[in-house]
Amino acid sequence: MRGASLRDEASRLLAIETSCDETAAAVVDEGRRVVSSVVSSQMDLHARYGGVVPEIASRAHTELIVPVVTEALALAGLDSAGRGERPVEAVAATTGPGLVGALLVGVSAAKAIAMAWGVPFVAVNHLEGHLYASLLEEPDLELPVVVLLVSGGHTLLVRMDAPGRYEVLGRTRDDAAGEAFDKVARFLGLGYPGGPAVDRVSAHGDAGAFAFPRAFLEGSLDFSFSGLKTAVVRYVRAHPSVATEDVAASFQEAVVDVLVEKTLSAARQARAAGICLAGGVAANSSLRARATESAEAEGFRVFLPSRAMCTDNAAMIGAAGYFRLRDVGASGWDAGAEPGLGLSPPGRGGAPGRRDTS
Ligand code: KG4
Ligand code: ZN
Repeated sequence: MRGASLRDEASRLLAIETSCDETAAAVVDEGRRVVSSVVSSQMDLHARYGGVVPEIASRAHTELIVPVVTEALALAGLDSAGRGERPVEAVAATTGPGLVGALLVGVSAAKAIAMAWGVPFVAVNHLEGHLYASLLEEPDLELPVVVLLVSGGHTLLVRMDAPGRYEVLGRTRDDAAGEAFDKVARFLGLGYPGGPAVDRVSAHGDAGAFAFPRAFLEGSLDFSFSGLKTAVVRYVRAHPSVATEDVAASFQEAVVDVLVEKTLSAARQARAAGICLAGGVAANSSLRARATESAEAEGFRVFLPSRAMCTDNAAMIGAAGYFRLRDVGASGWDAGAEPGLGLSPPGRGGAPGRRDTS
């Protein structure tokens, strides 16, 4: 076997991510240095359906997985067996949360590769991966930080004390922030994916045009976006001639107000050194600007990962995989896809996380 198995010291990982509509592979050293990272987006395949079609996603992953992995290896100077001057010592893959058929492609490929190469396999929680985006781009990041993880399926506030040591402080009680962006964009006829479309259109709108409701949920770090979405729909139905860009900008402003306010509250409570954004919605230009401005005004450091690191990629899975392997050990060959996986720190029984019922 190349490399040891449990409590592994493996430092060069091949990582695979196929939880939704991106087929991605990366080679990452010591959980911090991205040697290569390849992301093949299926966005064009799903755009005409207005959302990700699970069956199409699984089929596309099946076709793309071998070329994407091969390219990531080649860019890292490795042959198709993961050998080179510094060979791959372990293989990581996202096991959840995500679409079951999509996850299965990455998990099966990763386990087959690890078995064939005689290296350990490590199951990674996709949400945990997002937490590492900032650390990958800013290895000297001062901890603890509060990470606002905002994606298509999740909205979480997490305090990160060290790699592999974190605590969930708040979560959405209904829609995820990205889901709200996508639903409002679809309603406004802005197309798919909705977040970037709302972001683009809002640049030409008046963010103060309509006072849509903000659910601050006093005394809690949880979120709720379904009331806001309903308010937008009701308002536009009652006033069909309103300017779409004003509605989009006012909606975005309401989401950003809540996200920024809650993140700062969490940072104060956690006595964090700084805040980080993560997940697809962290690419939002208004969120990036407002988070920076408000956090700096209170003396918090701010780290905004590049847009490529905010959206789904395998480099973040490689980072999370490295620390899981170090702290928990290799995963069993029976590890499978876990579509409903929630976020929980490593070291609790070796599983990548618990089921999330929220
Ligand atoms: O993290 P991600 O790439 O995939 C998931 O794990 O969900 O996040 C995708 C989400 C989508 O809802 C998309 O509309 C949203 O991120 N998004 C944005 C922007 N770019 C992507 N939302 C607001 N503004 C953006 N610029
Ligand atoms: Zn994601």
